[in-house]
Amino acid sequence: MALLLDPVVVRVPATSANLGPGFDALGLALTLYDEVEARVTTDGVNVEVTGEGEGQLPGDASHLVVRAMRRAFDRLGEHPAGLALRCRNRIPQARGLGSSSAAIVAGIVLARALVQDGAERLDDVAALALADEIEGHPDNVAPCLLGGFTIAWGERGRAAAVRLEPAEDVHPVLFVPEVRGLTEEARAALPKTVPHADAAFNAGRSALLVHALTSAPGLLFAATEDRLHQGYRAEGMPLTASLLARLRDEGVAAVVSGAGPSVLAFGTGGWTPRAVPGWRVLPLDVDMRGARLGGDLG
Ligand code: HSE
Repeated sequence: MALLLDPVVVRVPATSANLGPGFDALGLALTLYDEVEARVTTDGVNVEVTGEGEGQLPGDASHLVVRAMRRAFDRLGEHPAGLALRCRNRIPQARGLGSSSAAIVAGIVLARALVQDGAERLDDVAALALADEIEGHPDNVAPCLLGGFTIAWGERGRAAAVRLEPAEDVHPVLFVPEVRGLTEEARAALPKTVPHADAAFNAGRSALLVHALTSAPGLLFAATEDRLHQGYRAEGMPLTASLLARLRDEGVAAVVSGAGPSVLAFGTGGWTPRAVPGWRVLPLDVDMRGARLGGDLG
């Protein structure tokens, strides 16, 4: 029997993808976490959710953490008869903060921790590729799994990523609206082709952003400019577009977080965020560790 019977707990960070010009490639892990405890049982699937998504997320095998666990168990050739999960969710859902990636990464990391030698047989390289298969894009699952600032890409149909160390003077601030957004709708707003000049603009800004985030935060304002997705999506999220424009007019390096509707701003050089009616303002740090096993459910 290769399944372990003691419960395991994982903590997974919220993530912000794109970061302006790095569409579907760049991502940052943030110090805001979901925690999930899982244990193998003899029968059935039961999921208890408290916090974000409570009373809305399913309590059965259709829960995304369970679906990701099943995919990871399949890879490992194990088929537990039953599962019991407890989720303490703090990542707002459907706001462009990587809550679905967090659920997927939590499921994969929990499943491999419940199998003897699971972490060796499904290492981080394989876990990232599996998480991307489930999610459909790698820019949230990569920082969620690895922490820090990540660049993700696809190679021969598989996702890969590198983790970079963000500079110390990078202080992410999230603006989270009450309204929700759907990634599929935000993706449907994008054109099939873009002008070559815009692609060239983003290539330059993405390269600059890697330098700015790792060693020159003073360049973040120029480095976070985008022409590939934010403008096309603005009509579908007018509140986001107007907050973004306001922050940038004030000289703040602000971007749409992932597919929106949250806004991510970088506080450097003593900028202090003000309250914005209708938005939660969350000053955070960069999470450096990514998905982490251990401890008790908080
Ligand atoms: N890169 C993705 C998008 C992120 O912008 O559609 C979704 O969270």
